[in-house]
Amino acid sequence: MGHLQAFNVQEMINKFNIQGYIETGTGIGDSLSYALKFSFKKLYSIEYDTKLYNKAIKKFIDPRLKIINNFSKHALPEIFSEINENDPYLFFLDAHFPEADFGIASNRYQISLDKYGSDALPLETELNIIDIMRPLHQDVILIDDVWIYEEGPFEMGNWSERNKLNTGNMTFVSEILENTHNILKIYKQQGYLILTPKESKK
Ligand SMILES: C[S@@+](CC[C@H](N)C(=O)[O-])C[C@H]1O[C@@H](n2cnc3c(N)ncnc32)[C@H](O)[C@@H]1O
Repeated sequence: MGHLQAFNVQEMINKFNIQGYIETGTGIGDSLSYALKFSFKKLYSIEYDTKLYNKAIKKFIDPRLKIINNFSKHALPEIFSEINENDPYLFFLDAHFPEADFGIASNRYQISLDKYGSDALPLETELNIIDIMRPLHQDVILIDDVWIYEEGPFEMGNWSERNKLNTGNMTFVSEILENTHNILKIYKQQGYLILTPKESKK
């Protein structure tokens, strides 16, 4: 699992006039605790797993923050109905494999895929929702764990589970967003995609 700490968040805030933060997959809140250090007007974090959600709402008390206990495909539209469409947001898309990341069973990723289907790998759905519901396309989108979808010279090697699971590839990212965002892949840690708006209004 990568973290938001891999990025120069303040530089992104300044360069793209970022006003808020939206994360899919709270987990144990490592990235969220880092995000809270910055002067975002609003922060949202989405966690499907109710146990992790309950821990997070006790751990993180901040009037700017709302944590939502739901699948990202339901929580993102809820958030977009609350925020100003003119405010650029920083997204950290890091939701995958409910009930697997913090488990120990050797086949936990396959179990998660079998149980949750497309909600176990919600990235494509999330990007489609963002594309449709954030029509000004001013947001910066960080995507974690590229190694789930493809092989490459990742700093941490290739993911040992990838060949066992049918995780597809990442061509959907450019299919959805190549007209609106520049897409940069970096091989740091488990691999990230950095999507920055082609036309920043700042
Ligand atoms: C890698 S962890 C998140 C780590 C966290 N972002 C961080 O950097 O500290 C992935 C989390 O996504 C959650 N998750 C998986 N699929 C989800 C979905 N479809 N909607 C919401 N949360 C999901 C899992 O329960 C898990 O806690």
